[in-house]
Amino acid sequence: MLVLFAPLVLKILELCSCCKWHKHSSLLLLLVVRNLHLLDAFEGRWGLIQNGTGTFGRVHLVKEKMAKRYFALKVMSIPDVIRLKQEQHVHNEKSVLKEVNHPFLIRLFWTYHDERFLYMLMEYVPGGELFSYLRNMGRFNNSTGLFYSTEIICAIEYLHSKEIVYRDLKPENILLDKEGHIKLTDFGFAKKLVDRTWTLCGTPEYLAPEVIQSKGHGRAVDWWALGILIFEMLSGFPPFFDDNPFGIYQKILAGKIDFPRHLDLYVKDLIKKLLVVDRTRRLGNMKNGADDVKRHRWFRSIDWDAVPQRRLKPPIVPKVSNDGDTSNFEAYPEDDWNKMPPVPPKDLEIFKNF
Ligand SMILES: *[C@@H]1O[C@H](CO)[C@@H](O)[C@H](O)[C@H]1NC(C)=O
Ligand SMILES: *[C@@H]1O[C@H](CO)[C@@H](O)[C@H](O)[C@H]1NC(C)=O
Ligand SMILES: *[C@@H]1O[C@H](CO)[C@@H](O)[C@H](O)[C@H]1NC(C)=O
Repeated sequence: MLVLFAPLVLKILELCSCCKWHKHSSLLLLLVVRNLHLLDAFEGRWGLIQNGTGTFGRVHLVKEKMAKRYFALKVMSIPDVIRLKQEQHVHNEKSVLKEVNHPFLIRLFWTYHDERFLYMLMEYVPGGELFSYLRNMGRFNNSTGLFYSTEIICAIEYLHSKEIVYRDLKPENILLDKEGHIKLTDFGFAKKLVDRTWTLCGTPEYLAPEVIQSKGHGRAVDWWALGILIFEMLSGFPPFFDDNPFGIYQKILAGKIDFPRHLDLYVKDLIKKLLVVDRTRRLGNMKNGADDVKRHRWFRSIDWDAVPQRRLKPPIVPKVSNDGDTSNFEAYPEDDWNKMPPVPPKDLEIFKNF
């Protein structure tokens, strides 16, 4: 591929010697091969990829030339991925996204790597983060909270049916598409449960029931997080908070929840049943799985077959002028993140299958 397209790339590089594309000749190559336009042309990129303490990549908006479809292209610097210990997360995200296909999960179309960067071509979801809407509105009313909860439950149920635990449910990881339906994004913490390497290495006589049934083992964390999320959507703040993490952990373990007075009676009951410390008694994690959650009285008006067909009416319709509108995301200025030299072969080995 490289040899075949090299003359073409050189030609394009000549044409735009003014821009900084030479740092990214491989990116340019793949754009040519995939017939994509890089829309932000390395100026105001609209997304940073962070691990909390540092930046290890950028998200670009790209457009397919013929079909005029938009995509998000994640470009991650390999040295930064390694420095910020994100190797596992990046691999997780790729392997999980490759095997899922659901209306409420972001789609991954293609991955690639060269000597400096990892590339992931993903669906572009223009509505922005649910987090921004929640912070702007303070809190959601009962029916708005109910709508997002139903779509999130369908997404979790689907992931669990594929033996995947999401493990990072929070408003920052929920994007809205242009109609206002959700898309879960960021699968860096997601984990495949039944993985041949460890189911085979246990001695059968000694395996715990939840390991055998692959129930209760891990899935429960998503139902707990759902309880926190529903509480936060309807209250505007999480149920357990403190100035320091230790204080938060203590409150979580004590399990005492102070509900704001305005909360619906049934949703309080639902939250209490999700925020059960003993995971074997937590709603969603018992014999009937997600069905127990779906049958809860707060959801009694919901037609669950209509939910994954995106037939519920979204309460918030993002302001999106076209499919490539980036105004619901923050733009970030140019920086030095991509001035790295090529990665030594030993480091590249980590990503040889990417
Ligand atoms: C981010 O990277 C730093 C630096 O290596 C690491 O110490 C930290 O654990 C990482 N944070 C997360 C949330 O992975
Ligand atoms: C919240 O929504 C549910 C489902 O539509 C409904 O049954 C309940 O009465 C609502 N509660 C309030 C306080 O509006
Ligand atoms: C709830 O909030 C949504 C979104 O802001 C709004 O459209 C709807 O009218 C509100 N519903 C009620 C019952 O207040």
